[in-house]
Amino acid sequence: MKDVYIAPSLLSANFAHLQKDIETVESAGAEILHLDVMDGNFVKNITFGPCVIKCIREITKMQFDVHLMIDRPEEYVEDFLRIGCQWLSFHIEATDCAHEIIKKIKQYNCKAAIAIKPNTDISTIIPYLADLDMVLVMSVEPGFGGQKFIEKILKKIIELRKLPNCPKYIEVDGGINQETAIKAAQAGANIFVAGSYIFKSNQISKTIHKLRDVLYGLSTKKSPL
Ligand code: DX5
Ligand code: ZN
Repeated sequence: MKDVYIAPSLLSANFAHLQKDIETVESAGAEILHLDVMDGNFVKNITFGPCVIKCIREITKMQFDVHLMIDRPEEYVEDFLRIGCQWLSFHIEATDCAHEIIKKIKQYNCKAAIAIKPNTDISTIIPYLADLDMVLVMSVEPGFGGQKFIEKILKKIIELRKLPNCPKYIEVDGGINQETAIKAAQAGANIFVAGSYIFKSNQISKTIHKLRDVLYGLSTKKSPL
């Protein structure tokens, strides 16, 4: 059975009422919440860090999928792991300590993932594949929500899936809507991050249900909704 998940990205929520937006996506059936941590160096944007994530950990049962878009993730990774996240991704372009970071993530029983930017070749992560639970394939340049899906990354997902050590999960992040999600699913992705498509829609629940129906329809797992 193939697992398929939709992970709403909090980056596109209304930060004036985070609790309300988190409750809305959780009651719509989202099991994973994607949390984009940006430092203003690795990417040209600054978002939130452990303080905010610690507070929202108290108000939801959703799994936390922390996407670190920061330089030197090895210096900060434990701050996030201590809070209790279930998935943690760091960028291969941001560190020379990938083995060390993966080891640390595993010590906390968290799923380990490496994220790659659209122009980064998959050869850069081959030495780590066997130790990973997930690869996060960026389908926009990291830094901002609301960008257009970069089609050429589909080839990367297809190639990754063919590799003998490819982890069970391939997450696609950026520019996901109903059409691009189908393309990514057909290429082999099974976790779909969606920010603006979900949070900027007039009917958040309906958008999640629609996306789930389409993606579950493509997989063997039936939607419980
Ligand atoms: C971008 C972030 C994404 C972002 C996606 O750097 O990693 O998670 O929230 O936003 P959308 O779905 O609007 O492209
Ligand atoms: Zn992200």
